[in-house]
Amino acid sequence: MQGVWEEHVPLNNLAFRDLMAGVCAPVTVVTTTREETPYGSTVSAFASLSLDPPMISVALDRSSRLLAFILQTKRFGVNVLAKSQQDMARLFATRGADRFGQSTWASEHGMPRLAGVASWLVCDLAHAVEGGDHMLLLGVVTNAEKTAAAPLVYSERIFGTHSVLLERETERQRKAKRLTLLGGDMQ
Ligand SMILES: Cc1cc2nc3c(=O)[nH]c(=O)nc-3n(C[C@H](O)[C@H](O)[C@H](O)COP(=O)(O)O)c2cc1C
Repeated sequence: MQGVWEEHVPLNNLAFRDLMAGVCAPVTVVTTTREETPYGSTVSAFASLSLDPPMISVALDRSSRLLAFILQTKRFGVNVLAKSQQDMARLFATRGADRFGQSTWASEHGMPRLAGVASWLVCDLAHAVEGGDHMLLLGVVTNAEKTAAAPLVYSERIFGTHSVLLERETERQRKAKRLTLLGGDMQ
């Protein structure tokens, strides 16, 4: 271990970005409702924070419009995207796009929930902490739901999923198909 630290060199901005790009991250669309209008953006800086009470954190760029809105509404939703939702991840990262106009969504507990997500959380904003050019939002989870869908992940600027989960999902689908076929035979 000592050798690793001896080789340490101060990171420049580019090297730091490149290092962090190699870290596997979840892909979420964080949403809020402002004056009855849905708003949301793609966020990979989403993490579990506390078990009791259940809390999560999301980091938003200080220039993010979503950040300004959440600081007003004090509530937000987290849509953890499923493996097939990379187009959605791109859409909600595109400035000027009609993000909700091009998506299927519904209001749940007052927050916009996108169709087909892997999991869904509703949070009350507990704290907003300054962190360099980002703000870390700490949210207390008030509602949550998980589905069987494999999640979308992002690493080396490529979308994908955990290969073992993909195998598990394929196996589940195979089993479900077999059961459907058996059911059909019995009728
Ligand atoms: C895969 C991916 C992950 C992203 N993660 C974050 C993030 O964690 N925090 C953030 O502030 N922006 C993140 N972005 C960028 C925002 O989605 C993008 O800047 C968006 O246009 C911000 O919209 P807004 O200013 O309307 O909130 C990410 C973009 C992509 C494609």
